Parts: sequence; structure tokens; C-alpha cells
Amino acid sequence: MSGIRPTGFLHLGNYFGAVKNYVKLQDQFNCYFMVADLHSLTTHPDTRELKSHVHRVLAENIACGLDPEKVALYCQSHIRETGELYLYLNMLAYKGELEKTTTFKDKARQQPENINAGLLTYPVLQAADILMHRASLVPVGKDQEQHLEMARTFANRFNHRYGEVFPEPAAYNFGEELVKVPSLDGTGKMSKSENQLATLYLADDDDVIRKKVMKAKTDAGPTEPGTPMPDYIENLFQLMKLVSSEDQIAYFEEAYRECRIRYGDMKKQLAEDMVKFISPIRERAEEIRTNQGYLRQVMELGAEKARASAVETMNEVRQVTGLNYY
Ligand code: TRP
Repeated sequence: MSGIRPTGFLHLGNYFGAVKNYVKLQDQFNCYFMVADLHSLTTHPDTRELKSHVHRVLAENIACGLDPEKVALYCQSHIRETGELYLYLNMLAYKGELEKTTTFKDKARQQPENINAGLLTYPVLQAADILMHRASLVPVGKDQEQHLEMARTFANRFNHRYGEVFPEPAAYNFGEELVKVPSLDGTGKMSKSENQLATLYLADDDDVIRKKVMKAKTDAGPTEPGTPMPDYIENLFQLMKLVSSEDQIAYFEEAYRECRIRYGDMKKQLAEDMVKFISPIRERAEEIRTNQGYLRQVMELGAEKARASAVETMNEVRQVTGLNYY
């Protein structure tokens, strides 16, 4: 089980860091992938753009290979049972531990005018999402590990107080397969919040992709054999490894070693390989995104699968908690 924030546009970092792995997992496990629309209200109370963001995130994930027939792909707000479980879990979550959460402290600093209770109990809602399906593996990035730890705490507290209902959910790391996608300006990873021009989005059109890649930082090239590669050049090779052929990579590596590399040529090659990689995803996503009937079907099918599992869990929860009076 995992949640995807509907923040609009997926970029190459999201693809190689998350979605590509979800696509692999869908053939090995019974998967629930949820668009976390309710969570987004904690930071984005204005809902005017929400529908288009939800549609986009669904379309882009499907275009990347997530199959709504194989997994339960659904919207958080379509599973009303989550609100109920969230309420029970809130009684087992303490103000002190919630206030200590790193993401809460960060968000409180970022939006001092709106430190709402939803922000404080964000990890409780996330725990409800996970425990609802009694999920044991949760593929998430490093930034979510504290939330996972809290989900385990709430599961254990619930089990101790009322009876064994929930397995402990563990963060699922992709280990070796976890790929970091460097940004094009030589600093850090591709990300939404950093430099937009250094991040390649799956929705970028061909010329935008070319322009961004050609702007990537380079220099005059090595003049002596054995010169260590600067970070920003290493990053370009790393990006090539994601989309270019072995031959191309070997060709430019040799050119570097022999001090005859032309970074302009290398970037041209990288740009074309990026275009070849991104454009079919972009076109598929656009087709899906504009097919409202299909998206509705996807959401209904996903909600049906997620609800089946939610209803079963909540029946058990109501039994053990003693909230059953006949
Ligand atoms: N908090 C997660 C994020 O910011 C999104 C999320 C919501 C989630 N519910 C979840 C992730 C349940 C894993 C499991 O990315």
C-alpha cells in the first residue's frame, strides 16, 4: 500500500524513484495505490485545482505502466471508512508525539498562519490509510519513514488495547533499485520544489526537454587523462544511464577518458534519448487525462476494490473495540 500526493506534475525523479518500482510490485503483490487527496487539504485548503490534479496524477501513473486492473488504484476520499478509522486512531495518538514529528514541525514553520489539527494528525490519517488494508509493506521514500514508525506504534497500541487486528507495516525500500535522479543544474536531485528548469517533467514537450538538457552545466572538458569527473558531469552520465544505450554511454566515457569529449554532442544525444523516453509517456498520459469517462471507470473500480478490504477491516475493528451494541 502506498499513497501518492496529488501535487500535479510527475517528474523523472518520481518516475525512477517510485512509479517504476510500483509497476514492478504490481505483479508480485496485492497492491493498493491511493491518491492522497484528503492529505492535500492540510496544506492546500483551496480545492479549485484539486480535480485536475487528481486526474493528472492518475493519468500519469497509468501512462507509466500502473495497471488499474492489476492494482487497486483509488482516491482516498472515496473510502469513507478511512475517516472512521482515523477517528479511533486519534484516541490512541498523543499530542506530544504528534508535535515532535519532523514533517509537522516543517509544515508549521512553512505555514504559521494555518497550523491546523489536520496537519498535526497527518500521520494518524496516513496510518489509517495503511492499516485499513492491513498492509505489511509500504513503498515510500526516506522522508516517510517516521510516519511509518508512527503507523506501527498506533497499530501496536490498538492491538494491545482492543485485540490483534493489524499487522505491523514496514517501509519497503527498493535497495539496489533505488535510483537517484540528479537535477540538471548539478545540485541535488530532480524535485518539484527546486529549480523547475533543472527538472524534467513527464508532461514537458520535446522542445522543452531539449532546451532544459542543453542548458545543463558543463565546462571546457578535461585536459589531462585521469582528471576526476566533476559532480555536474557525473550527473549527466547518470542521466544517460537512465535512458541511453550502453554503446552511447561507453562512447562518451571513452571520449572523457581520452580528453576529447564534446559536451555539446553529449547533451544533444542525452536530449534526444530523453525525448524518446518521455514523449510516449506524455502522449499516453494526455490521452488518458482527457478521457473523463475512462478516468471515472478507473476511480470506481479502484474504490470498489479498496472498499471491499476497508469494510472487512472495519467490521473487525467495530467488533473488538466494543462499538457493537446488539
Ligand atoms: N504522506 C505521503 C507523502 O507525502 C502520502 C501518503 C498518504 C501515504 N497516505 C499514505 C504514503 C499511506 C504511504 C502510505 O508522500
